[in-house]
Amino acid sequence: MADDSALLSSQLADATLNESVSVQKAEFSDRVPIQSIILRPDGGSGFAGQQVRVGGWVKTGRKADKDAFAFLELNDGSCAGNLQVIVDADKGDLGQLVPTGTCVVVDGVLKLPPAGAKQKVELRVEKVVHLGPVDPAKYPLPKTRLTLEFLRDVVHMRSRTNTISAVARIRNALAYATHTFFQKHGFLYVHTPIITTSDCEGAGEMFQVTTLISEGEKLERELIENPPPSEADIEAAKLIVKEKGDAVSELKSAKASKEQIGAAVAELKRAKENVLKLEERSKLQPGIPKKDGQIDYTRDFFARQAFLTVSGQLQVESYACALSSVYTFGPTFRAENSHTSRHLAEFWMVEPELAFAELKDDMNCAEAYVKYLCQWLLDNCLDDMEFICRQFDKTCIDRLRMVASTPFVRITYTEAVELLIDAVKNGKKFDNHVEWGIDLASEHERFLTEVKFQKPVIVYNYPKGIKAFYMRLNDDSKTVAAMDVLVPKVGELIGGSQREERYDVIHSRIAEMGLPIEPYEWYLDLRRFGTVKHAGFGLGFERMLLFATGIDNIRDVIPFPRYPGRADL
Ligand code: 4AD
Ligand code: MG
Repeated sequence: MADDSALLSSQLADATLNESVSVQKAEFSDRVPIQSIILRPDGGSGFAGQQVRVGGWVKTGRKADKDAFAFLELNDGSCAGNLQVIVDADKGDLGQLVPTGTCVVVDGVLKLPPAGAKQKVELRVEKVVHLGPVDPAKYPLPKTRLTLEFLRDVVHMRSRTNTISAVARIRNALAYATHTFFQKHGFLYVHTPIITTSDCEGAGEMFQVTTLISEGEKLERELIENPPPSEADIEAAKLIVKEKGDAVSELKSAKASKEQIGAAVAELKRAKENVLKLEERSKLQPGIPKKDGQIDYTRDFFARQAFLTVSGQLQVESYACALSSVYTFGPTFRAENSHTSRHLAEFWMVEPELAFAELKDDMNCAEAYVKYLCQWLLDNCLDDMEFICRQFDKTCIDRLRMVASTPFVRITYTEAVELLIDAVKNGKKFDNHVEWGIDLASEHERFLTEVKFQKPVIVYNYPKGIKAFYMRLNDDSKTVAAMDVLVPKVGELIGGSQREERYDVIHSRIAEMGLPIEPYEWYLDLRRFGTVKHAGFGLGFERMLLFATGIDNIRDVIPFPRYPGRADL
């Protein structure tokens, strides 16, 4: 086996160096990804002489040699780098080919560039197969370097920029790494609901899901176009019922034929139905339905109040308490009015949940997972990381190396507060006052990770008053078995805990926190029937991207950011 794998890797090494290897077309597309040419160890020079079709968008283009030909820097998003493409004037309209943003598909031959050129290979075009032109006067992305803030106003086009496309590839790599890590460790991927009727964090920061407003508006419009019947309309309809009834009686006493009586009875029935219909319509009220002065949610889509989830944890716990090791990875929503560079209204969370596990296991899992993500980027995304490093944060690659290889510090909340108080005594100024019982502010978290320890810190055993109802109460009755993973640059990356598995304790914790019991009855069942020690955590996926890239604002590491006042597209 060992010999086989050694043989295989030596064949692979030969293949990458072997100059006679031929280009590989993209699967399901009739073109060669630019990455597979220029990211070879030889920069693509080994492919010189080969015929290829490539497609991409022009980053920069310029005509040369008195418009005899043009240079195009072509990018297809498969990697950060561009392929240099040379088009002679007889092969296409150079004026249309050179504007930034133009899409081209070309057939040509890969050639070695003149000595001293920075690229290792270039493409001489034989045929322009497709051209998607751009009017430079109207193109929303000028060629100058654009700020990330500017790009937030063109979210539909910003994926064309070097930075946002590098972030997209890093984000994709972290998602792949996430599934690989958990699958490798025997976790089952569970899809938890987006629409929920339970508030996981009990913080009341949920977006409501309702059709009452749109239905109310529809009805209002309908009633304007087609007003409800008046009292007089209903009285008139009732009079018709009386007349039709009289007609039936008369026909019966005149011993009229069966057919005649039958027809009169049918008319009477129709008249009665009409009265019912009118009475029903007259009761229609525009606006949101109410009962006893409150909104009547029994008339809402789900016949009860529903929300977008803030976390898949509660539901994934029900799978952990049956399948042991599980995780969910999906979008979560918080209607908190935070305008910070670390909060989004819609963000993605990775939430593993482990049965037969305690806080220490949870911390071990979180640490191993974060390290794995860092190592994955170093192993699989180095060229994008190098680009980000040059453009944004000179320290980001070193930071990944450090985190991947250094054990995380673990301190209790009480120790963390003592360290912060000591720092204040030694002259450190914080905006937020430090004393036992406070929720650590971002400035405190960053002091611990960036100044005090200069590495990730796991803080555990927090005061119960500042944490959610589901966290396991410690023997001191003052703290809960919670843990937050804090990292340099970002502060809180992960929040997790051992869960309260004791029925009586969690029941009284829900009551103590002023939450209603009814919506959590199903959650209590997990403790009523076959309870088990279990623990889990949630990693904010965009926070991981901030940490990895060193980019300052969370709005720039999610494709379509949602935050107070903004939900473009
Ligand atoms: O600490 P949080 O609120 O924990 C939970 O939701 C638990 N139910 C998770 C669990 O135990 N399964 O959120 C977890 C992480 C935070 O550490 C942070 O990284 C991120 O989610 N996060 C946000 N990211 C972006 N925007 C926001 N508004 C965020 N709120 C939390
Ligand atoms: Mg938290």
